[in-house]
Amino acid sequence: MTETRTTTSHYEVQKKRRGDVLDYWKQNQRSIVRAEEVRLEDTPRRMRRGVMVSADGDRPSLVLDANVHQIDPGEVSTIHRHSWDAILFVVDGSGWSEVDGRRHEWRPWDTIYLPGWAWHRHGNEGGKPAKFASFSVQPMVELLGLAVVEDGGDTDFDQLPSRPATTESGLGADPYSNRLRRLEQASKEFAESRVLTSYDDVIFRVSPRGARSGFLVDSSIGHRTQGLTAVIHQLAPGLFQSRHRHGGEAWLFGVTGRGYSIIDDVRHDWGPGDLVIVDHWTWHQHFNASDSDIASLIRVHNFDTLYMGMSALLAPMSLFEEPPKLDAPDLTGVEWPDPAAGRPDA
Ligand SMILES: [Fe+2]
Ligand SMILES: [Fe+2]
Repeated sequence: MTETRTTTSHYEVQKKRRGDVLDYWKQNQRSIVRAEEVRLEDTPRRMRRGVMVSADGDRPSLVLDANVHQIDPGEVSTIHRHSWDAILFVVDGSGWSEVDGRRHEWRPWDTIYLPGWAWHRHGNEGGKPAKFASFSVQPMVELLGLAVVEDGGDTDFDQLPSRPATTESGLGADPYSNRLRRLEQASKEFAESRVLTSYDDVIFRVSPRGARSGFLVDSSIGHRTQGLTAVIHQLAPGLFQSRHRHGGEAWLFGVTGRGYSIIDDVRHDWGPGDLVIVDHWTWHQHFNASDSDIASLIRVHNFDTLYMGMSALLAPMSLFEEPPKLDAPDLTGVEWPDPAAGRPDA
């Protein structure tokens, strides 16, 4: 027999737990991780990894993680798969990724999307180390108790087990068959997601918010993700994006040029390889610090599942706010340079 002797009700227990959780994550919150703070370390995958933000290093996070990876010329990594999905953004050098048996060649500023459970390995046949940043929803999947990673060493793709699959649904119209059919369909869509976004194919549009932006990973260009989206924003010389705030986090990774972000009145300068983390519900605005060159950053967040879900759960509260009149610059007449200005050679 187990007898509860405590006089504390569930109300006090939960209240304390809520407070502890907020305190813990507040302590871990940071607005910037600079490229030079990231230490690359050897791993058994034959790639070096540097933690920008992840419990794998000393900066735990709740939803997203961010790492940088380096692979030497002539090296091929082990093949592995995991239950979470990830975005890779190539910073330097060239190479290839084999994703579920298909090879994709990449060079600087190309983006690779790795669907959850897709077997993947990377190789570098170029003359210099290849470097990419990765962003994933590993922490969120771990929080749900569903984070699994499996390393397949040097095994060929066709010798490896196929992805965990939902049993075929048959023709029944009962609730169980309905569930099988729905999950079978979703798992097919994840498996067929777009993988490669070549930078040459990115379509840039000037937005009313004051930047020229292009989708890198998004459902509108053929991705099916666990919520991740990525865009590249280019800020015109001397100009800025409009101020706003929203729920969820937005992670920004410097690509080229120099800029700064003002987050709740604090200025954070950034350049290539720096990570700016916009915490939820903080007023923020991004600026180009140069009068002659563009400044680019990529923005990653968990929009399609977590943010949309929170919006629905918290309605009628709004998770997005901007001043009644957008404080964006007028970009008519701005002469934009070639979108590839500043792109490193492969
Ligand atoms: Fe991976
Ligand atoms: Fe934002």
